[in-house]
Amino acid sequence: MADLEAARRRVEALREEIRHHDYLYYVLDSPAITDQEYDRLMQELRSLEEQFPQLVTPDSPTQRVSGGLHEAFGTVTHPVPLLSLANAYSAAELRAFDARLKKMLGSQEPIEYVAELKIDGLTIALTYADGVLTQAATRGNGLQGEDVTANIKTIKSVPLKLRHRVAERLWIRGEAYMRTQDFAQLNEARELAGEPRFANPRNAAAGSIRQLDPAVTAGRPLFIYCYSILAAEPELQVETQWQALSLLKEWGLPVNPECKLCANIEEVIDYCTYWTEKRGTLDYEIDGIVVKINSLAAYRELGFTGHNPRGHIAFKFPAEQRQTKVKDIIVQVGRTGAITPLAILEPVRIAGSVVSRASLHNEDYVKTKDIRIGDTVIIQKAGDVIPEVVRVVTAERTGAEIPFVMPERCPACGAKAVREPGEAVTRCVGLACPAQQRERIIHFASKDALDIEGLGPAVVDQLITAGLITDVVDLYRLKPEDLVGLERFGPKSAENLLRAIAESKTRPLARLLVALGIRFVGTRVAQILADHFGNLDRLAQADQAELEAIPEIGPRIAESLVGFFREEQNRAVIEGLREAGVNFVQPQVHNKDTPLAGKTFVLTGTLQSFTRAEATEAITSRGGKVSGSVSKRTDYVVVGADPGSKLTKAQELGITILSEEEFKQLLSEQGGDAE
Ligand code: IVH
Repeated sequence: MADLEAARRRVEALREEIRHHDYLYYVLDSPAITDQEYDRLMQELRSLEEQFPQLVTPDSPTQRVSGGLHEAFGTVTHPVPLLSLANAYSAAELRAFDARLKKMLGSQEPIEYVAELKIDGLTIALTYADGVLTQAATRGNGLQGEDVTANIKTIKSVPLKLRHRVAERLWIRGEAYMRTQDFAQLNEARELAGEPRFANPRNAAAGSIRQLDPAVTAGRPLFIYCYSILAAEPELQVETQWQALSLLKEWGLPVNPECKLCANIEEVIDYCTYWTEKRGTLDYEIDGIVVKINSLAAYRELGFTGHNPRGHIAFKFPAEQRQTKVKDIIVQVGRTGAITPLAILEPVRIAGSVVSRASLHNEDYVKTKDIRIGDTVIIQKAGDVIPEVVRVVTAERTGAEIPFVMPERCPACGAKAVREPGEAVTRCVGLACPAQQRERIIHFASKDALDIEGLGPAVVDQLITAGLITDVVDLYRLKPEDLVGLERFGPKSAENLLRAIAESKTRPLARLLVALGIRFVGTRVAQILADHFGNLDRLAQADQAELEAIPEIGPRIAESLVGFFREEQNRAVIEGLREAGVNFVQPQVHNKDTPLAGKTFVLTGTLQSFTRAEATEAITSRGGKVSGSVSKRTDYVVVGADPGSKLTKAQELGITILSEEEFKQLLSEQGGDAE
């Protein structure tokens, strides 16, 4: 008993100390002890808790989730809608914003603002009950988000317990993000493992948080910055945004240290100018500055337009531009034979990553911009993601630059490269072109096609180089002994890949049609064709007129289909797939009079547990239809994260809106089998 009492006192002291060091490290960014010393404290706490399990409490620092399976996310209704911001792109627009607020507030006195870095991450709403973290949710559609509590608890800078009890219930908004350096390392590791790279740190953070297995999230280096008090019960008396930020800090929540209280809009503009230049010095990405009126009374008085508060605005940075050199212009051959010029650049760091290539799209693009090998060029990231050449710095020309010439023959197979009149794209006409085959195999295995897990570009290259495959049919002939000798393949991974390949034989016809990579046949067209014909053989026999008679199938698609099935080589592939046992049939809707039959759905935003193709399939296999736009005839709009204008349109028209959870519910009521 004396032991237990002594242990209790020591446990409490250790927790206090660890929380204090978490605060120094994550919030004040000034650690007082080394990592080893910190680990020793944690170790001591862990072993005491093991000896005296009755002392374990849910808010103990040892209770951060680091593993365990989690069910699909539930839905969380936010205490207040999580709004978004209107944008400004120049100092003039910021001054206009300031003038607008003065007019609405009926005062010419300078307005105080808080300027904050706009962290490029994922919005998270945290709930604290009696000071203890009880829930964390994504923004979702602004009204409802996904319950990601278990995952957020793995982020070390999120306090499981506040330093003060503050209120019975407290809701905080913040941004979870990944540091640029960690993002680059994660991508390298993913590349080695044959997994797709994340496009940017924001996607990496979002992908890490929307993980069903918190152990995966726990392994990802995530951080959070908090910036607003969404609500409190009972209500708190907070008068300014600046005060809100200092309260957050006091409670132990991480607040970005670069926030600034500005006496007027000119100081805000100076802050924006400063960070436009200096954003590259931060170890995380920002995509602008959030400007917030400091007085919360004025904020409330100003109200909202649509989803945006009038008292806030986001200053968006101009796309970051850099100068570099074009070392070479090569061409790449895509799945459809399109030959695309690609600029090989001297590597430069831009908007958080190193860029060493930029697509030049087609021959005319290179001509119009007059991009030559050896040129000095200005590049930027379009939408801050895809690098593009803005212009050539002609003043830097020496005369030694070499103009680009589109090759007359495909660099991969030597077949003729043809540019049809009226087309911008040059294509390789070689049917057996290995470059096209590579891209076709990658596409065949991709998520919206036959979804063969583990068969990414790196593994496809490995199989081709080893001479094991030349086309998609060869995939079904692979045997365990073919794989085990290959680098990075052991008996287990070989078995996994072969199982994934075998599973791909059972996908519905619509997926197979996508996988075949017929020009103009994407997910939607594939679904229409699969529903109409029911099996591949009937579709392959259809002529131009029969195809054109199908709603939404125009002459261009019809022609592409007829051409595809006429081609001897394609017919051979289809026969090969048939022999391998690949399914050629579209499952029939079991019950035509279920409530989903004949209903029209529109999908908007990102769904978390379905790709677009899967959601479409789930609806159509139950007799429903999927349309691209909202109209009076729409029955349901399914809303995922970051929905577009379709949501607003649906609200205006009074159409039933379904969250992802409600959508799943509806599907399960239909008793279908598509998920
Ligand atoms: S305030 C009502 N402050 O930027 C406005 N947002 O649309 C609430 N963001 O997705 C947002 N850093 O997640 C605010 N310091 C900051 C922010 C910030 C990043 C994100 C936010 C939202 C987007 C604005």
